[in-house]
Amino acid sequence: MQTSKIRLDKFLVHIGYGSRSEVQKIIKQKRVTVNSQIISKPEHSFVINDSNVYVDGKEAVYSEFYYYILNKPQGVITATEDNRHQTVLDLLDPIDKRKSLAPVGRLDKDTEGLLILTNDGKLTHELLSPKKHVNKVYYAKLSGQVTPDDVLKFATGIELSDGTKYRPAKLEIIRASDTSEVFVTISEGKFHQVKRMALSIGKEVIYLKRIKMGNLLLPEDLQLGAYRSLTSQELKKLKGEE
Ligand code: URA
Repeated sequence: MQTSKIRLDKFLVHIGYGSRSEVQKIIKQKRVTVNSQIISKPEHSFVINDSNVYVDGKEAVYSEFYYYILNKPQGVITATEDNRHQTVLDLLDPIDKRKSLAPVGRLDKDTEGLLILTNDGKLTHELLSPKKHVNKVYYAKLSGQVTPDDVLKFATGIELSDGTKYRPAKLEIIRASDTSEVFVTISEGKFHQVKRMALSIGKEVIYLKRIKMGNLLLPEDLQLGAYRSLTSQELKKLKGEE
C-alpha cells in the first residue's frame, strides 16, 4: 500500500503525460483534478491510494510498474532512442511511451515477434541473467534441409570457430526440404545467436520470429506492430510462477 505523498507533476510524468515541463503546463492550464478539485500547482502533493486524478476528464491511473508485450515487426530496432531508425518505443502510443520503459533483451532489426517492454528492472534482470537460463523459443525458416544430425549438434552444444560456445539447445523440425521450418529453443541471448547457430550447421536464417519467452507465448491475436499490457496471468507466466 502506497501511503507516502507524491507531487502531482511527478505523478503525471510517471504515468506518461509528458516531460516535467509538459505536465506542468497541463496542470497550469487547469486541466487536472485531484479528488474532484482543480489543481493548478505542479507541486501539489497527495497520497496516491487516497486520490482520484483526472486529466481532461479521463482518469490517470497509476501503477508502479508497466509491462507491455509487443509483436515486433521487421525494420524496427530494439532500442529506446535512435536518430535514424524507428525504435520499438516509437510503436507505443504517446501516453504509454514512458522514459522509464526499456525492452527486455534484443531482437535483430529483421527479427519479428515477442518483445517485452517494462520499467521493472528487477524482472528484466531476472529474465536476462545468464545464470537463470530463461528459455526463448523461435520459429525459423532456414535455407537448406535440416537433418537429424543438426538436431543432435544443437542438443550437444554448438561451438563456433571463434570460440563462442552455446549451451545445448533444442532444434525441432517442422518441415525439412530445400528450405526448412524449425522451432529453436535457446536458454541464452547471445548476439545473433540463432543465426550464428544456423550458420554453424550450414544454413542461413531466412525468417525469424520469437514466439515464447519463459512460459509466455506470443498471443496469436496480437498483430505485427501491435502491443498491449500484459494480463496478470501472463505476467505470472513470464515470471515463471505459473
Ligand atoms: N537470434 C538471432 O540471431 N537474432 C535474434 O533477433 C534473436 C535471436
